[in-house]
Amino acid sequence: MFPATTRLHHLINLEKFPLDRPQSRSFHSLRLRCKDELATSGSTSLDGFLKPEICREAVKEITPILDSQSFTHRRKHNVYFLDDVPGVDPNHPALKKTETINHTVCADQLGNCMVTRIYEYPPLVHFLSGIMGKSELFTMDDPLARVNVMAYRQGEALNWHFDRSEYTVTLLLQSPQAGGQFEYRADLRNDQDPNYDGVARLLAGHDPGKCILDLNPGTLNIFRGRNTAHRLTPVEGNRDRIIAVFSYYEFQGKMFSEQERLGFYGRTA
Ligand SMILES: [Fe+2]
Repeated sequence: MFPATTRLHHLINLEKFPLDRPQSRSFHSLRLRCKDELATSGSTSLDGFLKPEICREAVKEITPILDSQSFTHRRKHNVYFLDDVPGVDPNHPALKKTETINHTVCADQLGNCMVTRIYEYPPLVHFLSGIMGKSELFTMDDPLARVNVMAYRQGEALNWHFDRSEYTVTLLLQSPQAGGQFEYRADLRNDQDPNYDGVARLLAGHDPGKCILDLNPGTLNIFRGRNTAHRLTPVEGNRDRIIAVFSYYEFQGKMFSEQERLGFYGRTA
């Protein structure tokens, strides 16, 4: 049991997901379910992690920050986020570039917002380390990168890519009216086989193995995306897709380099 002062009953739906009661049977079965899904399908979701009214509250809190302070991140990239891939012809269709656009706010702009408090909630960090099979997990020290909130507006998308980190933890806060669907192609490559031709097939729209991950607002999702290509299709309509991204590491004190901050956020401090 975690101390009462660290409970976030008013934000997280702890009745459904008893993160604060790690000795309970319901915690044990939740942990088992998530760990198993992550290992077998590369994704697990806690649907209803935030109740709808809390989710709307979180959006209300963040919207003015998004409207006035967000960084418009627009770039052309391939699935690897690399300019050159050693040993691959620069004209190979697996290296085709596509565009990603979103509007990002950083942890320093979010301050003590609800999403920051959820990100830092020790029982959540403990739960995540368990389902990822890590002995320990830590929040990030970087004042910009630790928690980000991204908005995708009409016509904007996150294009096909592989993640550089092993796991991505997100909390969907608002869905668009249409579009903005999360598509993925599981295990498109592995550590032995980069499968460039398979990547090219997917980019050309000829891969029947493509799937859709349907997420409701308020869902916490943990996704293993290093070898599973994924994208967000363009958002349609005038309601933004808003999502929080939580960064954790297996060691304490993780910071981004100045170059990384500049690339992701257009500023270094
Ligand atoms: Fe990703």
